[in-house]
Amino acid sequence: MAAASHRATSPGHFAWGASTSSYQIEGATREDGRGPSIWDIYCRQPGRIANGDTGDVACDHYHRYPEDVALMRGLGINAYRFSVAWPRIMPTGRAPVNEAGLAFYDRLIDELIAAEIEPWLCLYHWDLPQGLGERGGWTNRDCADWFADYVAVVGRRYGDRVKRYATFNEPSVFTLFGYCLGGQAPGLSDTASLLQAIHHVNLAHGAAVDRLRASVPDASIGAIHNCQPCRPARDGTEHALAARRLDAYWNRAFPDPQVLGRYPALLADAVAPYLRPDDLAHIRRPLDWFGVNHYSPHYVVADPGKPLGIGFGPAPPSVPRSVMGWPVEPEAFRETLLATHHRYGLPIYVLENGTAAPDVVDATGAVADQPRIDYLRAYTSAMFAAINDGAEVRGYFVWSLLDNFEWGAGYSQRFGLVYVDFPTQRRVPKASFRWYAELIQSASPRSMHFAGAASRS
Ligand code: FCB
Repeated sequence: MAAASHRATSPGHFAWGASTSSYQIEGATREDGRGPSIWDIYCRQPGRIANGDTGDVACDHYHRYPEDVALMRGLGINAYRFSVAWPRIMPTGRAPVNEAGLAFYDRLIDELIAAEIEPWLCLYHWDLPQGLGERGGWTNRDCADWFADYVAVVGRRYGDRVKRYATFNEPSVFTLFGYCLGGQAPGLSDTASLLQAIHHVNLAHGAAVDRLRASVPDASIGAIHNCQPCRPARDGTEHALAARRLDAYWNRAFPDPQVLGRYPALLADAVAPYLRPDDLAHIRRPLDWFGVNHYSPHYVVADPGKPLGIGFGPAPPSVPRSVMGWPVEPEAFRETLLATHHRYGLPIYVLENGTAAPDVVDATGAVADQPRIDYLRAYTSAMFAAINDGAEVRGYFVWSLLDNFEWGAGYSQRFGLVYVDFPTQRRVPKASFRWYAELIQSASPRSMHFAGAASRS
């Protein structure tokens, strides 16, 4: 096995990376003993996913990871964030452990280290084992212990080579959409399930941090939050209140208890029935960093007919939007980084930022994705501005390395720096891939304070 690289921990180091997740890229969902996840089941329910797509094959990364790591090396990133599929490690979610599943991540991690790319391991990017889904998933308090047991297996196995761990990716997104608003696995929609899921995921986070510290004493641990300003889409008190309510569920329900030791005021009474004495102390464990995923602000309206009374309204007509319909507002990214820095006081890693674009391979075989270059240039400039204004940002990871399975949108939306021709699995680096490679080369920790580093085309 390759030795861990310590290069990444030297002073002044800035992590330049790309992110992916297991269900979105791996495929091989029935291979080498992997058990089903809630997403395998959800994708098979009619009408859930655009075009009836599934993650069965995705980018076939399970077999093509050497080619994908070679692409990363060509890109020049020094860090790569991936997630481990819990149902590959424990097919039913609990013991026994599946050796073939563990061996896959050994191979991936060793390949990364050989390429001098630091592995950043996310323990949960939404693919809960279906066996646990059938026991209530995150609505069941026991799920926190099941998660901690899985995390201990991961830490013991990879801790010699992997030092960066994220407990959860975007807990607010998968709890809100999976348990209440609809649109994600497991497809529940009631407020009680949402509140239970929120609290149990928080407990799981705290338990996971403790288990990791025990098995990997030099681990650097954080959680990854989707941080998007919530703005009222219309004038009026009810819309302002709806925006504040979404802000509590979306932006604060996890980082507040995990970092500050309390639920936000707008949520505290609702969560109270599920709290036991000492829960908050078990949730608030010391962390090394704060992971920010950011895309765009939300524009919110009050809608009494919708769960939580929240509706998603239109952005002001003057705001440009991506093909996903998401507002493009780099200034909101700067604000988010500064607000996160002031509220939580932890070093920040941007672990997802990027955009979907209408990418096509042209007659010359190239993918000229200028809208993505424009987006990344504007957003990295906003990040540099936030750093200049005092935000302690230590890394930036593009979402995503590859076009992949974009949840409810299936394969209809492309976020990659690398185009994937899904029928053949051919990879074509896009123009943005070269743009990002140049940015990384030109931006040393000292020079990146000058916004000029981001303004090359
Ligand atoms: C984030 C998810 C990631 C991807 C991007 C576009 O919310 O974490 O898996 O779908 O959005």
